[in-house]
This record gives sequence, C-alpha cells and structure tokens, in this order.
Amino acid sequence: MRDGDRYGQGFVLWFTGLSGAGKTTIAEIVERDLRARFGKIEVLDGDIVRTNLSKGLTFSREDRNTNVLRIGFVANLLSRNGVGVVVSAISPYKEARDEVRRDIGEGFIEVFVDAPLEVCAERDVKGLYKKAFSGEIKGFTGVSDPYEPPAAPELHIKTNEEEPHESAARVITHLEERGYLWPVEQYREEYDRA
Ligand SMILES: Nc1ncnc2c1ncn2[C@@H]1O[C@H](COP(=O)(O)OP(=O)(O)O)[C@@H](O)[C@H]1O
Ligand SMILES: [Mg+2]
Repeated sequence: MRDGDRYGQGFVLWFTGLSGAGKTTIAEIVERDLRARFGKIEVLDGDIVRTNLSKGLTFSREDRNTNVLRIGFVANLLSRNGVGVVVSAISPYKEARDEVRRDIGEGFIEVFVDAPLEVCAERDVKGLYKKAFSGEIKGFTGVSDPYEPPAAPELHIKTNEEEPHESAARVITHLEERGYLWPVEQYREEYDRA
C-alpha cells in the first residue's frame, strides 16, 4: 500500500455552482467511473433531494442552507461508513458549505463547477433562466439571488474551457492523488501478484 493510502475510506465530492454550470453532467461521468473502481457509491443530487429529503423547503437563504445541511448530514453518515458520496447541489452560501466541511472533515472535497452566468443562461438546460430574466421566477441564483463562490475549493473546474469527460478525469485524478482511489496501474500490480 502507498503511504497515506486512504483506499476504502469514504469521501464526499461536493459539486457546487450555478444552475446549468454542469454539476450533474460531470457528477454522472464521475459516478460511472467510480462504480467500476470503488465499492460503494451514493449520489445526492439537489434536484432529487428537493423532492424527498427537503420537500417543502423554499429558496430563501435559510431554507437553501437547511437543504445543504441536510444533504451534508446524510453525506457524513454515508462517508464515515466507507461510502463514496457524490453531491450535486447549487449550495450558494459559503457559510453552509463550510459548516458541512467542518462536520465531514478531511473527506470533504469541494468541486467548484464554474461557468460564466451568460454561458449557463445560454445553455438554459431547464428553461429556468428565461423565466428568471423575465421575472417569472424570483430569487434565482446568479440572476436575482446570490452565489458565493468557494474561496479555496479542492478543485476548480471551468466548464466553458474543457469537455465534461476532461473535468471528470481531473476529479478522479484528485481522488487518486489523495489516496482514496488506487491508480489504475496499481490495480494491475495487485492483480498480477494474486
Ligand atoms: N464542459 C462541460 N461540462 C459540463 N456540462 C457541459 C459542458 N459543456 C457543455 N455542457 C452542458 O451544460 C449543461 C449542464 O447542465 P447540468 O449538468 O444539468 O447542470 P447543473 O447540474 O449544474 O445544473 C448540459 O446540457 C451539458 O451538456
Ligand atoms: Mg443538476
């Protein structure tokens, strides 16, 4: 085993960023890669969480933070039992993200999925920006509600400058460097030895 090997330890990949920045797209590729290389993976996507765990919460600052803390709570329970957790949630406020970081500790890996607002609005995957700009939706992150970018994320991904699979590969490499995943060559060595 390598020095500082954390293989088998849980972790939380926390994708934060504007709507349409690419959190879910990248998280899905990462999830697929991880499933082949790490036993237990769970995904917590903000859009899905809001239909169950956080059903009924609004988009006020308080409720957005409650949503983030709930996701963090579940992610913490899972990761301390050896699960690799992949979270995609706008999580616009630094205070809530930092609280989750404190709770989870070293296994918290913040991935800032960054694209200029104009690019997200141009993509308009769900047609929400159109409604936000027309005023039909109020308090929309990046348009009429704040997004506080992470000051020191473990990874900063600019999705207008690289392809989703390149971003996903950087996330996987980060996990290898931190010792949560064995580099592929090491699998081969272990396999050859067995
Ligand atoms: N480099 C990139 N990384 C991620 N998504 C990208 C990239 N380039 C274009 N896209 C597109 O941007 C959109 C991002 O949507 P999505 O992943 O649902 O965002 P989010 O989950 O952050 O709201 C998708 O339609 C995706 O195909
Ligand atoms: Mg999404």
